[in-house]
Amino acid sequence: MQYTYSTLLAALYLLQSANGLRNGIGLTPHMGWSSWNVAQCNAASAKYALDTAQKFISLGLKDLGYEYINIDDCWSLPYRDGSGKLIPDPGKWPNGIKAVADQIHNMGLKFGLYGCAGQKTCAGYPGSDGSRYVWSDVSQLVEWGVDFWKYDNCYTPCLDNPPPQTCGRPAGNSRDWYAPMRDAILSVQDRRKIHFNLCNWGRDNVWEWGNDYGHSWRMSVDNWGDWASVERIGSAAAGIAQYSGPGGFNDLDMLYLGSPRLNTNQERLHFGLWAIAKSPLVLGLDLSKISNSTLDIIRNKGIIAINQDSLGRPATTFVPPGQPGPQWGKIYPYWAGPLSDGVVIGLCAGTSAGTYSVQFKDVPGLGDGTYTWEEMYTGQRGTGTGISFWIDLHDMRVIKVKTS
Ligand code: GAL
Repeated sequence: MQYTYSTLLAALYLLQSANGLRNGIGLTPHMGWSSWNVAQCNAASAKYALDTAQKFISLGLKDLGYEYINIDDCWSLPYRDGSGKLIPDPGKWPNGIKAVADQIHNMGLKFGLYGCAGQKTCAGYPGSDGSRYVWSDVSQLVEWGVDFWKYDNCYTPCLDNPPPQTCGRPAGNSRDWYAPMRDAILSVQDRRKIHFNLCNWGRDNVWEWGNDYGHSWRMSVDNWGDWASVERIGSAAAGIAQYSGPGGFNDLDMLYLGSPRLNTNQERLHFGLWAIAKSPLVLGLDLSKISNSTLDIIRNKGIIAINQDSLGRPATTFVPPGQPGPQWGKIYPYWAGPLSDGVVIGLCAGTSAGTYSVQFKDVPGLGDGTYTWEEMYTGQRGTGTGISFWIDLHDMRVIKVKTS
C-alpha cells in the first residue's frame, strides 16, 4: 500500500485531534482581565484594552502573573464584509485590532478576543455559525496576533427555529458546534498558539469532555456579581474538581471583585475559593477605580502562587470527623487540595461566622505528624498538628501546609 504525503498529514492531524488541545499552553489557570463585567458592550474597545494594560504594569499586576487582556462581546460591527470577514468596529478600534495586540505584546502581555459558535454572539454580533466561518475567523485571529479566544454558545442549533439567543431545547450536543473551532485552532498552532476558552455555560457536562476541546471551560451560567452567584458557582466547583489539570481547567467565570454587591469578606472568599479551585483568575473591574482593599486581595502573592502551582490540581471539599456534610448550593467550610510542596486548606465561613478548626491528620494528603503552615490573608504562621481560626461571616482563610 502506498502512503501519500497527504495521507500522512491527515493521519498526523487525526492524532493531534485525538489529543485535543493539549498543546503546551494553559498548563496553569490563565490570569488576566476581561471587559465584560466592566461595562458590557461599552468596554469592548482599544481604549479599555490599552488603559487596562497600562494598569497591569503600574499596579504591579503583570509582575504577579496577570497576563491576558481579553475583550468580550461587541468588538466588531454587526455584519461581516463582502468576503465574510469580521470587521472591527472602527469607532472602538480606530487603528484596527492588530495595532492594539502589537502594543499589548510589546508590554509583555497577551491579547484575547471573543466569538460565538452560533449564528450571532449573545449581544447579536456575527458568530462563526458552526463550521461556516471558523477557518476564516481563525485566520483573522492569527493575522491580528490574538492569543486567547472565548467562544460562546448563543444562537446555536435549537429545536426552536430560528434559534433564540439562549436555546432551551438544543438540537444536539454543544460538543458538535465547539469541535470545528477546536480543529481550526489546532490547525494553526504552528503559527500561533491560541488559548481556547469554551463558554457553553456548563451545558452537556462540559467538564467531562472540555479537556479534549479547549484549555478552559465555563462550568456554570454567569457570575452576576452577587453573593448568590459566589455560592452557586463556588459550591458546584467541589463536585467537578477531578476534571481540572494542567492544560485544561474548570472556569468558574470572571472574578466580580469590585462589585458593589459584595463586601470585603465576600471578596476574600470569592478570590480565595476561585484560586484554590484552580479557576482562571480573570478580573472583571475597571482598574482605574479599584479600591485599596480589593487591590490587596488581588495582589495576594501567596494565594496566586497556590492557584499557579505546577501540579494544577484543584482543592475540593472534605468532611472532618463529626462535621455535617455539604449542603447543596451553600459554600462548605472545609476544602483541601494537593500542591507540589504541600497541601492547601481553605476554610470558608459560607453560612455562619465561627471558629473553624481542623486536625491535619483528618486532611486529605496530610497525616499524623507536625506541620508548618502559613495563612495567606492574615500572614499568621505556625507549626503543630492542626489549625483553628475565628472567621467572620462569608470570609475565608487560605492555609498552606508544607510537606517538603
Ligand atoms: C454570555 C457569557 C458572558 C459574556 C456575555 C456576552 O453568554 O456567559 O460571559 O461573554 O455572554 O454577551
